[in-house]
Amino acid sequence: MKSKKHMKNKNRIIWSTRFKSSTSKIFEQIGASINIDKRLFEEDILGSIVHTQMLVKQKIINKKRGKKIIYGLRRIKIEIKKGKFSFNKKYEDIHLNIEKRLFSIIGKDAGYLHIARSRNDQVITDLKLWLKKSSINVVKNLNNLIKSFLNKSESNIQTIMPGFTHLKNAQPISFAHYLLAYVEIFKRDKKRFSNNIVDLNECPLGVAALAGTSYNIDRNFTSRKLGFKKPTSNSIDTVSDRDFVLDFLSSAAICATHISRLAEDLIIWNSDIFRLIKFNDKILTGSSIMPQKKNPDPAELIRGRAGKNFGNLQAMLTTMKGLPLSYYKDMQEDKNLVFDSYDVLMESILITNELIKNLNSNKQRMLYLANKGYTTATDFADYLVQKKNLSFREAYKISAKIVNYAEKNNKKLDELSIDEIKKVKNDLNRDVMKVFNVKNSVNLKTSYGGTSIKNIKKMVSKLKKEFK
Ligand code: ARG
Repeated sequence: MKSKKHMKNKNRIIWSTRFKSSTSKIFEQIGASINIDKRLFEEDILGSIVHTQMLVKQKIINKKRGKKIIYGLRRIKIEIKKGKFSFNKKYEDIHLNIEKRLFSIIGKDAGYLHIARSRNDQVITDLKLWLKKSSINVVKNLNNLIKSFLNKSESNIQTIMPGFTHLKNAQPISFAHYLLAYVEIFKRDKKRFSNNIVDLNECPLGVAALAGTSYNIDRNFTSRKLGFKKPTSNSIDTVSDRDFVLDFLSSAAICATHISRLAEDLIIWNSDIFRLIKFNDKILTGSSIMPQKKNPDPAELIRGRAGKNFGNLQAMLTTMKGLPLSYYKDMQEDKNLVFDSYDVLMESILITNELIKNLNSNKQRMLYLANKGYTTATDFADYLVQKKNLSFREAYKISAKIVNYAEKNNKKLDELSIDEIKKVKNDLNRDVMKVFNVKNSVNLKTSYGGTSIKNIKKMVSKLKKEFK
């Protein structure tokens, strides 16, 4: 009985003629992707309009019908934008929701729109268009972030801090040099997203379900009109391929790793033990019990959220690994992962930008800690090589002895007297004293890409031109 009622229903689903009963409620809930893929409505309508124009151009449908279809599609776009469109789970996804509505606006002519295409090519055309647009947005936001790093670098060129390896004081560096490291990192991320845009630049529309179509369609026309470089070459590969999704998720995961590593440094440096940086109150939060607290929650949040970006990539890889060619419903899950990764990453980039803008270096403390931990011991060894013609291994030993002596006598290297230094190597004069100065140490690192102030100034001005 239920099925007859279902057949009579004006709003029946597209395949109802073939089906003896209506979809089970629980499957309708799970199988429908409309709540997620409605985000593709603009791309879907654009794809449908271009497809219609092609069908008209190729005389597969007549002009009048084409006009009607395009009119209807444009109306639907306005309805959705104004929030006046009612999405229905019964019609599964954005493609069928729009097609259904087209029928109610223009009547039976709507039935001509789906000639020579399938939802299988439709959905990836939509998603590729969406990913192009969104990757451009990511790149734009990374650009803004890089600019903030550059501004912060500019005011910290002369700020000397300890550079760490193993979280132990290693060698003195300029804080700007650290910040510029992130400029390089985010430049690589930008490149990754930009490369993805190039890689996904083949248009899927027209491969239909998996085999292509018998109509005389013009795939070059649709491809060009939708801004792709060319049509995809193999219809089976086209509907099976989600590499472009994996590329996006992987780029997002890599970028999130970078953001998380940065957050980790900032959290450590902001701690009461390190006190190398201070954040403006704007980006700190208090405690409900400990009145004295100012916690760097935003930095912790972006570190934590990287897990979502990793998880989404892992989920998609797992979904794809066992799929035979060509289309399987498993792949419908891709959009949820893509949208989530995009949203999380975009917020993380924005928060990172806010963190950098609201970060102040504690210059005194940085300098103080740069002097701790015998950070100029390598400079002393280098001095011995350069001035006393020793091998690096010989010089290393002598420098290690100086460190042992300083440690035993509870002194920093720059607090040693020339007589004390002479105890480990007697042919040295006062000239050696300058190697224990951290600023001097920084300035000696003139090799390309090194931390000398001169290098950094050059780098900042070069990058500032690049990111005007
Ligand atoms: N909503 C579907 C998806 O996202 C569209 C393609 C459906 N195709 C099919 N043969 N069921 O993958």
